[in-house]
Amino acid sequence: MSKVLVISTSLRAKSNSDILTHRLIGGAKEAGHEVEHISLKGKKINFCIGCLACQETQKCVLNDDANIIAEKVKAADTLVFATPIYYYEMCGQMKTLLDRMNPLFPSDYRFRNVYMLSVAAEDEESTPKKAENGLLGWVDCFDKAILKGTLFCGGINDPGEADLKTRKLEEAYEFGKSLQ
Ligand SMILES: Cc1cc2nc3c(=O)[nH]c(=O)nc-3n(C[C@H](O)[C@H](O)[C@H](O)COP(=O)(O)O)c2cc1C
Repeated sequence: MSKVLVISTSLRAKSNSDILTHRLIGGAKEAGHEVEHISLKGKKINFCIGCLACQETQKCVLNDDANIIAEKVKAADTLVFATPIYYYEMCGQMKTLLDRMNPLFPSDYRFRNVYMLSVAAEDEESTPKKAENGLLGWVDCFDKAILKGTLFCGGINDPGEADLKTRKLEEAYEFGKSLQ
């Protein structure tokens, strides 16, 4: 059983990725995992300023919520990032968060398996690929970690619409159950 950290990055009310994330968490708990869920809603996360002080100190010079999240990311076995697709990429707030995880790069981080759930209006096979590849770029920098799995839920646009998508909700639950 793993310690799973799920990070929801949509800031919108009735977020579709949040709805699917809750179902994913249900599956992960059913599988016996210990799950912690963080939403970026209401969090203060500044842009990385690129000073690289963190590569010496393993601490960020900025003082905001990214540091608390970094500690949780460092201590989890398994990470799940949930994002809406914005312009065929992960949303900007997720990318900003990944950049701010730079203090973990020289650290003895624990996480190994990384997963992504993405949601978009379009439902083409290609729709999530750049976002998945973007996360892969981050994961590839952490030698002990791999991008273990992805779930794309396309064809969902209006706030709260995911609640009507029975099959996608089931897929999210099964995806949660399959986490390692
Ligand atoms: C700035 C912005 C860019 C978007 N870009 C895309 C896109 O490139 N492709 C797509 O299919 N949907 C796109 N969408 C639609 C969202 O992915 C869609 O509404 C999704 O359900 C939002 O998930 P959320 O409710 O969890 O935020 C975009 C939405 C916004 C706000």
